Amino acid sequence: MEIGEPGPRRKLIPLCDKIGRDHVAAVVHDFYDRLHRDALMRPFFEGIGDFTEHEALIADFWWTAMGGRIEQPRKFDMLAKHRALGFDAEALQRWLQVFEETLLAHLPPELAQRWLQMAQGIADVMQRHLQLGG
Ligand code: HEM
Repeated sequence: MEIGEPGPRRKLIPLCDKIGRDHVAAVVHDFYDRLHRDALMRPFFEGIGDFTEHEALIADFWWTAMGGRIEQPRKFDMLAKHRALGFDAEALQRWLQVFEETLLAHLPPELAQRWLQMAQGIADVMQRHLQLGG
């Protein structure tokens, strides 16, 4: 085949389309349910007044991180907000563990793994920038 010739149809499907908006919302909702039931994690979320709004925000965050578009994009200030919470490396590991459990409960392993890898990458950045050690 010549360069530039259209090849076999092998369209790259972005993760947002593979998972779908409804699943993103369901995962986020279930995740916060699980965090609330976890004694180590619960206290960090007590300051959130409106959980419906928070979940919508987090669902938008993941949707755009997966390549999806939203009507009114928001700026996130992840590091400052998380620094203010003062959690440690152990809490961050727990967050990831609960997130993984949630993903596996909702999605086929391959998609769960891809989403988890994104969360892990962000958690690594947090770990380094917030100097959590561990
Ligand atoms: C120990 C781990 C974590 C705890 C306790 C935690 C807790 C929280 C809380 C309480 C907020 C609300 C902050 C506020 O509105 O002032 C928040 C915001 C947020 N969290 Fe986390 N979080 C953790 C880790 C993570 C990780 C690993 C991610 C992503 C992979 C993440 C994504 C977000 C996002 C996108 C926001 C919204 C930030 C914004 O409003 O600009 N969090 N988190």
